[in-house]
Amino acid sequence: MKDKLIIFDTTLRDGEQSPGAAMTKEEKLRIARQLEKLGVNVIEAGFAAASPGDFDAVKSIAEVVKNSTVCSLARASENDVRRAGEAITPAKSGRIHTFIATSPIHMQHKLRMTEDQVVERAVQAVKWALEYTDDVEFSAEDAVRSEMDFLVRVFDAVIQAGAKTINVPDTVGYSIPALWGDRFKQLIERVPGSDQVIWSTHCHNDLGMASANSLAAVMNGARQVECTINGLGERAGNAALEEIVMAIKTRQDVFNCDTRIDTTQIVPTSKLVSSITGYPVQPNKAIVGANAFAHESGIHQDGVLKHRETYEIMRAEDVGWNANRLTLGKLSGRNAFRTRLQELGVVLENEDALNAAFARFKELADRKSEIFDEDIQALVNEESISNVLEHYQLLSMRAHSETGVLPKAKVVVNIGNVPHEAEMQGGGPVDATFKAIEEVVRSGAELLLYSVNNITSGTDAQGEVTVRLSKGGRVVNGQGADTDIVVASAKAYLNALNKLHGKLERTHPQV
Ligand code: KIV
Ligand code: ZN
Repeated sequence: MKDKLIIFDTTLRDGEQSPGAAMTKEEKLRIARQLEKLGVNVIEAGFAAASPGDFDAVKSIAEVVKNSTVCSLARASENDVRRAGEAITPAKSGRIHTFIATSPIHMQHKLRMTEDQVVERAVQAVKWALEYTDDVEFSAEDAVRSEMDFLVRVFDAVIQAGAKTINVPDTVGYSIPALWGDRFKQLIERVPGSDQVIWSTHCHNDLGMASANSLAAVMNGARQVECTINGLGERAGNAALEEIVMAIKTRQDVFNCDTRIDTTQIVPTSKLVSSITGYPVQPNKAIVGANAFAHESGIHQDGVLKHRETYEIMRAEDVGWNANRLTLGKLSGRNAFRTRLQELGVVLENEDALNAAFARFKELADRKSEIFDEDIQALVNEESISNVLEHYQLLSMRAHSETGVLPKAKVVVNIGNVPHEAEMQGGGPVDATFKAIEEVVRSGAELLLYSVNNITSGTDAQGEVTVRLSKGGRVVNGQGADTDIVVASAKAYLNALNKLHGKLERTHPQV
């Protein structure tokens, strides 16, 4: 019998700490439902004390998710723990994850607390959390740079206080596999009561070793891995869920544990997270990159055709790569559309939302002869964007490009229900469109990133545009999709402006 490895997904918390990846409650709910379908054991839904919006998002996820434990992060303070406890109360299975830094550098410069004070606060936080749930996780932030003797002391104290999961984070992505594995071996040997708790690893990817370090921890006794979809996360990101899960599944000859993940849901989850956060997946990314299963060289292609396993260690279909599946067309009716949404796991709030999505589908079917699952996902994303009360709305636009003539664009934008229009020239139609929008809105935001991805193949495919804007220290990502990439660009730019306008204020957990 193999042990079970707990997959703790923190896309909605640590992943959301990536610049511009902040999500709305509806977006988080969609991802949470998909994570549940993927089969993750624990969904870290957010940091409830960060803002009323974050609290609301964690609570809403706790209300709907039934097959995964729903967790909220909390610093080791009474207010944070109580907010987390209230937010997870509706969950069928709820967890509080409380943490405090244990490294000399963090205790001295950030917390300005002594070792004794840190131990006392950690124990107190676990006790507050136990008032809400039996399922309490404790993390020693910056464990990688903490002294071993002190870690043993803190962990001993929180286990005695009742913590059931002990998480050891490499907060700054500093470790290497042999050392990280050894840290787990020593901790499990030295901490009293270590056999009564689940040991968990949480690695960041600053040196590109987050997944390797996590797996080294698993080989040395960790039975929970904290990770994110696509390795999303601050700086270089977190350990990537898809890499951990597929390494465990593919190398059952070396791992003495297994997960309950439905691996065929990996690629759909990756696509959903990428399109909602606006973080594209690099083509050569393991498992979920567009080229991850593509064989370019003749020798490889020949080998794979003769015997697939010559060059393939996993099957593309096992991780959810399907050839684009033609689903619906111009003549498909409302019922067929509703059924396909259900098959894709998309839950729309009510009949009005279904009608609006169906109207968009019909519009798209007029412009694009074949509609694939990816088109439907993009359409639903658009629908959830347009459901948010938007301050800026694109009413209409026209862009002109012609050889030998400077491109120009005219936009009509509703600002708080009053139409405004402007026409501008630019280096290309997209540049002219952004200038025309700025002429109307005068946001003064700085454009940090502009990227276009085709959602499916073919020249009539929808383009999905991501625009990253920065203003006053805030960074946001906007998305838009359309068969006309200039229109998709305008939608993405306005979506980012709406997010900047929303002025989401939140506390960062590590500050
Ligand atoms: O990286 C880290 O230390 C964290 C903790 C809050 C677990 O994200
Ligand atoms: Zn982290």
